Amino acid sequence: MALRDILLTLSKNEMMNTAAQKYGLRLGAQSVIAGTNLEEMIGNVKKLNAAGIEATIDHLGEFVYDEAIASRAKEDILKVIDAIHAHQLNAHISVKPSQVGLDIDIDFCYDNLREIVEYASDYGIFVNLDMEDYPRLQPTLDMLEELNKVFDNVGTVIQAYLLRSKEDIEKFADYRLRIVKGAYQESEEVAYQDKLDIDINFLELIEYHLLHGKFTSVATHDHNIINHIKRFAADHNISHEKFEFQMLYGFRSDLQKELAKEYKFCTYVPFGKDWYGYYMRRLAERPQNINLVTKQVFNK
Ligand code: FDA
Repeated sequence: MALRDILLTLSKNEMMNTAAQKYGLRLGAQSVIAGTNLEEMIGNVKKLNAAGIEATIDHLGEFVYDEAIASRAKEDILKVIDAIHAHQLNAHISVKPSQVGLDIDIDFCYDNLREIVEYASDYGIFVNLDMEDYPRLQPTLDMLEELNKVFDNVGTVIQAYLLRSKEDIEKFADYRLRIVKGAYQESEEVAYQDKLDIDINFLELIEYHLLHGKFTSVATHDHNIINHIKRFAADHNISHEKFEFQMLYGFRSDLQKELAKEYKFCTYVPFGKDWYGYYMRRLAERPQNINLVTKQVFNK
């Protein structure tokens, strides 16, 4: 089994997740998680805003199988929306449907999402439905379409490793979309396995949405992709108001600040006690991330 597969399997380990919640930010997670509570997150978002960077805030949590926990997660997200409004943060919300009940019952999940989107809508705040693994994709898109019948402040994510993404990007052209390579372990029946194929599809999807779509969030740390898109946008006279670059909190922070001087830029800001699954996926993405962690652990 490759290291990436081991880490992705570990990312879903419930026992490890429970232990991680109990012991606070560990294993180097503090450099990529913006705190475990609301106050710490607000302080970090204010710093980003001061550098001209917007934030998309993820109150961490996923794969919830208990209604009470999912309802509490929804309430916590409403508090984040209140905080964005009260502190006048330049920020919006990212939410994983499995955190608010997708694995329990789709109607229950939809009601929770609807409440979040409606609450955010009253403040003019956007809500992004993060895209999780393949079995959760179609239900997420179905809920998005339902929400979009009533609200215009909701969008989602298109994953370039999926074979079906070309069809999805055409269908959802009228939506604000974040386009990513894709972070989960998927089979060859549904996803490209080769890095080059994923990169080619990633560029094609971004270019399509820049030309035909509503608003594009180009979410990557890959400077080759970023440089290509900068050139593409300039060559096709794409307005800087129609797209932004996004990166995750704590990754390539200097490049984030540099890009923010010229382009719209948004940092994905995860915070909260439930950091383990998110963090393990980040380790799986890049072996260098593990070196970073090892250094931090042994420097203590
Ligand atoms: P990738 O990891 O493929 O790296 C490509 C190259 O970029 C590397 O070889 C290196 O040269 C350079 N590079 C990358 N990271 C670097 C670093 N830290 N320092 C220096 N060089 C670096 N996924 C998902 O399935 N659903 C979702 O909803 C989201 N949401 C999301 C939001 C945001 C804002 C981001 C940035 C990402 C996501 N993702 C996601 C994760 C995404 O699918 C993907 O797994 C990661 O972004 C990793 O892929 P990259 O495109 O960043 O480059």
